[in-house]
Amino acid sequence: MGDTEDGAEVEIWNYVFGYSKIAVVKCAIELGVADVIENHGSPMPLPELAAALRCEPSRLHRIMRFLVHFHVFKQEPIGQHSVGFSLTPFSRRLIKHGEKTMVPLILLNSSPILLGAWHSLSARVLEGGNISPFEAANGMDMWSYAEANPCHSKLFNDAMASRARLTIPAIIEACRQVFDGVESLVDVGGGNGTALSLIVKAFPGIRGINLDLPHVVATAPTFDRIENVGGDMFMSVPNADALLLMWVLQDWDDEECIKILKKCREAIPEDKGKVIIVEAVVEEDDKEDELETVRLMLDMVMMTHTNKGRQRTLKELSFVLQQSGFSRFNAKSIHTVESVIEAYP
Ligand SMILES: C[S@@+](CC[C@H](N)C(=O)[O-])C[C@H]1O[C@@H](n2cnc3c(N)ncnc32)[C@H](O)[C@@H]1O
Repeated sequence: MGDTEDGAEVEIWNYVFGYSKIAVVKCAIELGVADVIENHGSPMPLPELAAALRCEPSRLHRIMRFLVHFHVFKQEPIGQHSVGFSLTPFSRRLIKHGEKTMVPLILLNSSPILLGAWHSLSARVLEGGNISPFEAANGMDMWSYAEANPCHSKLFNDAMASRARLTIPAIIEACRQVFDGVESLVDVGGGNGTALSLIVKAFPGIRGINLDLPHVVATAPTFDRIENVGGDMFMSVPNADALLLMWVLQDWDDEECIKILKKCREAIPEDKGKVIIVEAVVEEDDKEDELETVRLMLDMVMMTHTNKGRQRTLKELSFVLQQSGFSRFNAKSIHTVESVIEAYP
């Protein structure tokens, strides 16, 4: 759009006030708009919605007008003389305990802690920009900050868990054979164990170990057939038939990835062991793929929130795998932001 004069004139305003979209969606989440409409079960007229949410009607009207414009909610007739607000596929993802909820991810990424970091991105890109934008804004790196701030840690782990609830079913649907023959599985950097809980539920023959930092597993729920282990993946990884590294390598530079992968290589059997990597793989060449936009955004998130993390191309992943002693790998698309890479000794 920005490559024609007319397009640019409109597009630039989307950048000037672009933040209002996420801010208003966050406001709707905090008010519980989608939850109240869902519980109501039929289109809700403004006065009823305002009363249920205890909102000032004219201000709520403006919020809803904005959100209807962007198809977050829609308006439907009620009888012949009235209209009410109802859910769209988008706002179904704003239901707090909905199956496809993205609420924790939105709340995390719109929190002052993460938003503040973006103001230091240019300083990071300049020569000598040694400190991560997250650290510049919050005084310490992301993991230390989470350890020192339990509320932020919970927000982060909940956000990862809500994403895992979308990714794991997609893996199981697109390539369930990834788990064939696996009897023990360690989720390395597995967060609060949600991903592993979904896997062991789908594959009753698998016994799981969830490895994460001690402060993360200390608050993780207990799940059947899953042992929570507090530790440091740079120091050691429990032995198992297979290891899962989901959204983990992206947080680290090549040298750090090689250290993690070498520990993983030591923990799996030479003959039938494998490491299953799940993360966004960026294309070698720019492609007109809507999810590619998200992968490139995620790469910017890594530059802003982690010390040296990045989204890699397949070639870049191949390099770190080779340097860590893996002899071969294959990559599968699962029609989400992520790909699944199986790496073998
Ligand atoms: C981006 S999150 C991904 C969580 C989970 N794999 C998922 O996809 O939902 C990265 C995880 O790595 C964990 N982590 C960071 N440093 C670690 C370390 N040294 N050892 C083990 N886990 C670590 C973090 O606590 C966090 O849970």
